[in-house]
Amino acid sequence: MIASLTLTDFRSYASATLPVGAGGVVLHGPNGAGKTNLLEALSLFTPGKGLRSATAQEMGRREPGEAVGRAWAVALTLDGGDGDEIRLGTGTQSPGASRRIVRIDGETAQPGRFLDYLRPVWATPEQDRLFSDARVERLKFFDRLVFAADPGHAASVSGYDKALRERLRLLSDSAEQNRAPDALWLDALELRLGEAGARAAIARAAALSALQSGIDARGDRPFPQADLGLTGEAEAMALEGLEADDIAARIREGMAGSRARDAAAGRSLFGPHRSDLTALHREKNRPAAEGSSGEQKALVLNLILAQVTRLKDEDGAAPVLLLDEAPAHLDARRRAALFDEIEALGLQAFMTGTEAVLFEELKGRARFVRVEGGTLAAEA
Ligand SMILES: Nc1ncnc2c1ncn2[C@@H]1O[C@H](COP(=O)(O)OP(=O)(O)O)[C@@H](O)[C@H]1O
Ligand SMILES: [Mg+2]
Repeated sequence: MIASLTLTDFRSYASATLPVGAGGVVLHGPNGAGKTNLLEALSLFTPGKGLRSATAQEMGRREPGEAVGRAWAVALTLDGGDGDEIRLGTGTQSPGASRRIVRIDGETAQPGRFLDYLRPVWATPEQDRLFSDARVERLKFFDRLVFAADPGHAASVSGYDKALRERLRLLSDSAEQNRAPDALWLDALELRLGEAGARAAIARAAALSALQSGIDARGDRPFPQADLGLTGEAEAMALEGLEADDIAARIREGMAGSRARDAAAGRSLFGPHRSDLTALHREKNRPAAEGSSGEQKALVLNLILAQVTRLKDEDGAAPVLLLDEAPAHLDARRRAALFDEIEALGLQAFMTGTEAVLFEELKGRARFVRVEGGTLAAEA
């Protein structure tokens, strides 16, 4: 359980501490107060770039006129029960540094280790058009859901992406210089792509099934249900239960067949990086992509709640829910249902909104914190 969050020169905060306890935390304050900055800080305690997909440089506090952000730090103390305290930290060591370091109880660690302690899951206003948004964003969103339960997936995806960039560079360079690419090197890269791509596709298929059962089990009240799907040949094979070796061989074959096209296009036109998450609004029997932003938001929230429920039911670190501006998009009935569900799940949840009144039903049930001008004021 998170006991406190401390920020030093992070975004708009020179220095601030947010005391936390069990249950919900409501962060309210005007636009630009620094509410999302706090959620972003919490979202850094999982592999990846956090809920804004920002660089470490962008996160360092800049005074007006300063070109380079300061060295910054974000620290969490966790209450491990029985008086045990664990300290997690991340930040940079010099102004403008692009490398973010990770510390666990003072020792340098890999970001993947954070998953041993907590698993942040977030919903942001940007996801209001998730299903009609660019495919790349949607796949990133889904991959994040996958690796919260399957840490190896992050490594598969990044290994795949790295080999894919190398392959494309090789193809483009040789096309530019009018010579045949090194076939041995290409074969080796495509072997790696096949293996990593198959692992990724299998993990995606497993997560899809788990999420879908979660959504089905939750029923349709009060959030709408989605019927999820994955496009992509490798994912289809994985959903059919084919072996990793067969999937890898198919990826390799497809890549080999796509060399000339990829070289000409300057893009990688084949492979599981081009897969997509699809969703059907079950009740309406229409693609989620057609839905209003409110409808898409409700589908996403249902998906996120299925995800945290799944993480909570499995072994592993507790999920932590970060909901940016979520209540503002919900009617009163759904808002109340959301609060009740968070409480019933016994999760630590951080929720933002411009007005405290949006969280009226949580009075006496959650901690309220007023955020304004880089300061945090806990309210009774
Ligand atoms: N690196 C930074 N240094 C200083 N201020 C920053 C930095 N990054 C963002 N900000 C400021 O943080 C504020 C936005 O905070 P945010 O958390 O998004 O507000 P909100 O409460 O509306 O969610 C803006 O005023 C922005 O200028
Ligand atoms: Mg905000």
